[in-house]
Amino acid sequence: FSAFLTDSFGRRHSYLRISLTEKCNLRCQYCMPEEGVPLTPKADLLTTEEILTLARLFVKEGVDKIRLTGGEPLIRPDVVNIVAHLLASARTSSLIPLPVVSPAQLRQLEGLRTIGITTNGINLARLLPQLQKAGLSAINISLDTLVPAKFEFIVRRKGFHKVMEGIHKAIELGYSPVKVNCVVMRGLNEDELLDFVALTKGLPLDVRFIEYMPFDGNKWNFKKMVSYKEMLDTLRQRWPELEKLPEEESSTAKAFKIPGFQGQVSFITSMSEHFCGTCNRLRITADGNLKVCLFGNSEVSLRDHLRAGASEEELLSIIGTAVGRKKRQHAGMFNISQMKNRPMILIELFLTLQ
Ligand code: GTP
Ligand code: 5AD
Ligand code: SF4
Repeated sequence: FSAFLTDSFGRRHSYLRISLTEKCNLRCQYCMPEEGVPLTPKADLLTTEEILTLARLFVKEGVDKIRLTGGEPLIRPDVVNIVAHLLASARTSSLIPLPVVSPAQLRQLEGLRTIGITTNGINLARLLPQLQKAGLSAINISLDTLVPAKFEFIVRRKGFHKVMEGIHKAIELGYSPVKVNCVVMRGLNEDELLDFVALTKGLPLDVRFIEYMPFDGNKWNFKKMVSYKEMLDTLRQRWPELEKLPEEESSTAKAFKIPGFQGQVSFITSMSEHFCGTCNRLRITADGNLKVCLFGNSEVSLRDHLRAGASEEELLSIIGTAVGRKKRQHAGMFNISQMKNRPMILIELFLTLQ
């Protein structure tokens, strides 16, 4: 495995998240302000070619999983093209039309084993057949409520039925499990946990309850966060037979299953039990910055180096330096569970560190 992608704590970064756009067709309260985010001029965004060049480089060095994210990745017009070329990106260097090879064959040819997408689901039913043909192998869909009116309140737009259609299309086309990301917020949707779990009875879903995280201006407060432990208690009261599944390496999620149910339920405990110790992720922002941590501010522009004509070796050395500086865990990410009886001032400190 590449030394450039290994940090000073020995963590190997084999999972690359590429943001295709900062734009989104929804305005989820926990993520975006009503007016949206200031948009980066198009010229500053990575082009299709640049995305593929970078992907090729990372795959060559040992990345075996790429996830396309956003904003909302499915509003980028070239998304199908990007997926189609990603699998071949370790092999070819130009955007020539691809030979007709099945995605499974391609995946064997290349180091890249998984191409996933995290989407809000609005455009999914429409685009999924093409994305699947292009080789998309995993789908995570954000959905925080099963009540249409509440959906409109949370995301400040219409579209509940489109998302549900997207989920069913993904199941119909054989994705298994289809992951559903549900950010749990007290007073908003914590009363729907059992309804979400009930969905997994007859559908191959992995419903993932996510602890609400603070981001700039998303009005996070400690009281709105429902912890993993609390969610688990709620589920156990209804289904005492809930079974913990073995942990997957470097996974963000702790998985559980109710015997006899087709799907499973997971928890993403970013707040109460962080998973920095096994972090294997790197991110590229839509404008081409490499971020070695979701919570850190230090970024290096790969785009500027690419555009200045940097060689592969130069790019690798820049990437290697950034990865080498990755912190053991972010300063803000200490365990709330260890803070139970701490004075409020420490919790405030925790918040200001985020
Ligand atoms: P899989 O590849 O299917 O495991 O998905 P994922 O969990 O890596 O990605 P997804 O885009 O579905 O993100 C779901 C949630 O995981 C996000 O809301 C975050 O809470 C959390 N998450 C994703 N990446 C990171 C990360 O690098 N650090 C932390 N702390 N949380 C992350
Ligand atoms: N806390 C937790 N999860 C969040 N997401 C977006 N904002 C937050 C937040 N503040 C989730 C989305 C999506 C995933 C990529 O991140 O719901 O599923
Ligand atoms: Fe990885 Fe940073 Fe998130 Fe920890 S806080 S899991 S190191 S991205």
